[in-house]
Amino acid sequence: MHHKSTSAQSNRDLLVEHAKRLSHVRTTSLFDEDPERFDRFSHTLEGLFVDFSKNQIDNDVLSTLISLAHGVGLESWRDKMFEGGIVNTSENRPALHVALRDPSGPALMVDGENIREAVARSHHQMTDMVDRIRDGRWLGATGKPITDVIHIGIGGSILGPATAVHALGSHDDLGPNIHFVSNVDAAALMPTLRGLNRATTLVIIVSKSFTTLETLTNAETTKFWLLDSLPEDEIHRHLVAVTARPDRAQKFGITDDNVLAFWPWIGGRFSLWSAVGLPIALSAGMDRFNRFLDGARCMDEHFRSAPLESNIPVLLALVGIWNANYQGMSAHAVLPYDDRLDGLPSHIQQLEMESTGKSVDRGGHPLEWDTAPIIFGMSGTDAQHTFFQAVHQGTRPVSADFIGCLRNDHGSGIHHHHLLANLFAQSEALMLGWKAPDDEGHEERVCPGNRPSTTILLESLNPENLGMLLALYEHKVFTQSVVWGINPFDQWGVELGKQLAGTIMDDFTHGGTVTRHDSSTNGLINRFLKNRQQP
Ligand code: F6P
Repeated sequence: MHHKSTSAQSNRDLLVEHAKRLSHVRTTSLFDEDPERFDRFSHTLEGLFVDFSKNQIDNDVLSTLISLAHGVGLESWRDKMFEGGIVNTSENRPALHVALRDPSGPALMVDGENIREAVARSHHQMTDMVDRIRDGRWLGATGKPITDVIHIGIGGSILGPATAVHALGSHDDLGPNIHFVSNVDAAALMPTLRGLNRATTLVIIVSKSFTTLETLTNAETTKFWLLDSLPEDEIHRHLVAVTARPDRAQKFGITDDNVLAFWPWIGGRFSLWSAVGLPIALSAGMDRFNRFLDGARCMDEHFRSAPLESNIPVLLALVGIWNANYQGMSAHAVLPYDDRLDGLPSHIQQLEMESTGKSVDRGGHPLEWDTAPIIFGMSGTDAQHTFFQAVHQGTRPVSADFIGCLRNDHGSGIHHHHLLANLFAQSEALMLGWKAPDDEGHEERVCPGNRPSTTILLESLNPENLGMLLALYEHKVFTQSVVWGINPFDQWGVELGKQLAGTIMDDFTHGGTVTRHDSSTNGLINRFLKNRQQP
């Protein structure tokens, strides 16, 4: 038996008691009892406002959750992360994404190097690249400026940048068009290439490891595409890499000057603040990218210094734990009511599920509680016409985050009024539920209500607020990992499938009837081998 903190255990027991106590209480009656409930359970940080009051919580629940966080040493784990301690225990590394948005902090030594200097150097190199591309001084093989950028990467090497590029948009005509390609399916890459002019296209290959199958396959095909009409000794002008393995990028044919740093101490899903965010800066401009970093730093400072009772990422995490572990919510919806944030559900899905989808604690012992709920989502109001039926009436209740912006940039007030009316109505409907007034029949129309949600409102979708929002979820994930006792910075679960795909690729190469797997896998492989077209 491994040692368990008694105070943490007694808080967990107390939370079970609170859940029993509240199991027959309507959230609406908590509002009736406390006219201050909305103010009590909502918090503001600069342009970001979060309302937790529609969750099935009260002061006792929150104070027990906060005691639990204290009991598991949240503050010391948090400080350890900011100070460069080994928080990624299985890989024996720090996790220093927070250093990417804090260039002026005190020296931070990792493997004998002051990483503040490394971050500043990389930022400087990135700024220079962005300026040259945006003002037309970066010329392709035939002397033409860049009009289009293809960002090739997968997982954390693409989801964050794609989310932020779409969210921030381009506010001038200087930025190139940005195209994202991740899937190894050529049906993703080919249509992108078809529309582009090789002479004015820059390819950014983003891979921390520079071994990821999807990314390298897409990168190779794109390189061949470039070579189709550009001279081999000039195509280096069209290739940039962001990687922790510059040696591999060099072998691929990328010149040293065009390799930007990615470091072992930055996790892929936390990397968009580094040069991985190059397309964000190319599209929005370096000033706006820097403001995006400022927003994240503002959230970092808040996470680091605010008391847990009013610490927004801590509360988001603890309310999430309450819903997942004590209210029986096995899934959580991320619902941005702003089309510019339509990439957010996928980014948060990877951030949360790859970080906290674990079954053993840091010491390798099986956990006695559930971790990562299933994260899913879509932008509202589309989501309402897709899966909200189940969210309102299904037998498996889910929790939700509604995210909206008070101001829009498109100037069409009526659309924005409809959008926010729907956002507010949905969280209200989930809480209220509905029953026929005379209690007679209409069972098919009954909505049980009491379905918990949190609402996050940004004043506007400017770079600072976007930075705060994304950093909020990063710190939510970190906080939850500490309470669950897991390492959020590794992802060993994705390795097995990669290995097995390698073995099956060997089967494809050798041909002949395959018999070494189970009969289902053999059958599927053999069916493919009989029907395949030659590559
Ligand atoms: O899906 C696993 C994963 O390792 C992610 O964690 C990572 O973001 C992605 O693959 C891409 O990895 P790389 O940047 O090394 O190509």
